[in-house]
Amino acid sequence: MTSTIPATLIPGDGIGPEIVDATLAVFAALEAPFEWDTQVAGLAGVKAAGDPLPQSVLDSIRSTRLALKGPLETPSGGGYRSSNVRLREEFKLYANLRPARTIVPGGRYEDVNLVVVRENIEGLYMGYEHYIPIGSDPHAVGMSTGINTRQGCRRILEYAFDYAIATGRKKVTVVHKANIMKALTGIFLETARSLYDDPRYKGKIEINEIIVDACAMKLVLDPSQFDVIVTTNLFGDILSDLVAGLVGGLGMAPGANIGTDAAIFEAVHGSAPDIAGKGIANPTALLLAGAMMLDHCQMPDKATRLRNAIDATLNIDKIRTGDLRGSANTVSYTQALVSRIKNG
Ligand code: NAI
Repeated sequence: MTSTIPATLIPGDGIGPEIVDATLAVFAALEAPFEWDTQVAGLAGVKAAGDPLPQSVLDSIRSTRLALKGPLETPSGGGYRSSNVRLREEFKLYANLRPARTIVPGGRYEDVNLVVVRENIEGLYMGYEHYIPIGSDPHAVGMSTGINTRQGCRRILEYAFDYAIATGRKKVTVVHKANIMKALTGIFLETARSLYDDPRYKGKIEINEIIVDACAMKLVLDPSQFDVIVTTNLFGDILSDLVAGLVGGLGMAPGANIGTDAAIFEAVHGSAPDIAGKGIANPTALLLAGAMMLDHCQMPDKATRLRNAIDATLNIDKIRTGDLRGSANTVSYTQALVSRIKNG
């Protein structure tokens, strides 16, 4: 008998509960042995407990060290600080792994298969920001300070290089803007260069460098030039959405936040308030994050069954949600996936 694995479940905001329900149905079909501790955060946390990140969420993840999370809403401009960013900081989830793989052919490119490794807790995301008032304008000047540390750069670069070697990838591209932000991203490039001759990496993987703006252009022109991309926080955020667009959009893009203290799995996309409650969201991104969670918990067979079922449902059964120009809704797509898992 398989023993259960305690894990925290955060349904999240907007489409979160819809795609989390879909993922739970699929996990049940796979007999994934998670024992869920359900918690609320984000806007749902504010409504239920007056806090976007209630203490009970932190306590739960501290004990399980493992979570599956729906998207959490963050107000733009003013309002509370992002619970996602706070969770990443709290549990030192320094690596954000965002794979992008073509599953549904017929997009702009065939056979895209690359991974963005994003530094997840430093850079311009640290939120050291303020306004300077001038005259009657309280927001006359906006200021932000980014911080990248040598240790933080080395940690994410080593993670990316080790990940590339462990997963049989051939090349890692170091993405920076050290020509302009000479200190903030210069330290990232300088640290990368200090590792090129390290015996752990030299001759084992190809490493190259590119400036972020050129990287964005080359990704759109020919993504096959890239294999693993490693970059600082904000650039990784933007480039991972770009690569999601190369493989069918945000509905297809999973993410894993990995750290020394915990791992949190989620979709790259947000709470999609424009389609929330309509039952039409594509749960594939969260399902693929679920496959990453199964891999992380040493259940590669279940992860492979899940990925194969997604491939078959989308490409053989041709059951797809509206974002992929199909006519299925969240529930009918999930039912098709469950019968694929049960019947092979
Ligand atoms: P979004 O990713 O929620 O939506 C962007 C567009 O993609 C929308 O048109 C949406 O309908 C579509 N979309 C996203 N996921 C989809 C899915 N599974 N199926 C079909 N269509 C999908 O980005 P937006 O609107 O900028 O952000 C909304 C909220 O989400 C904000 O409060 C933001 O802070 C939050 N957010 C949370 C994240 C997280 O929890 N990790 C990540 C990104 C944003």
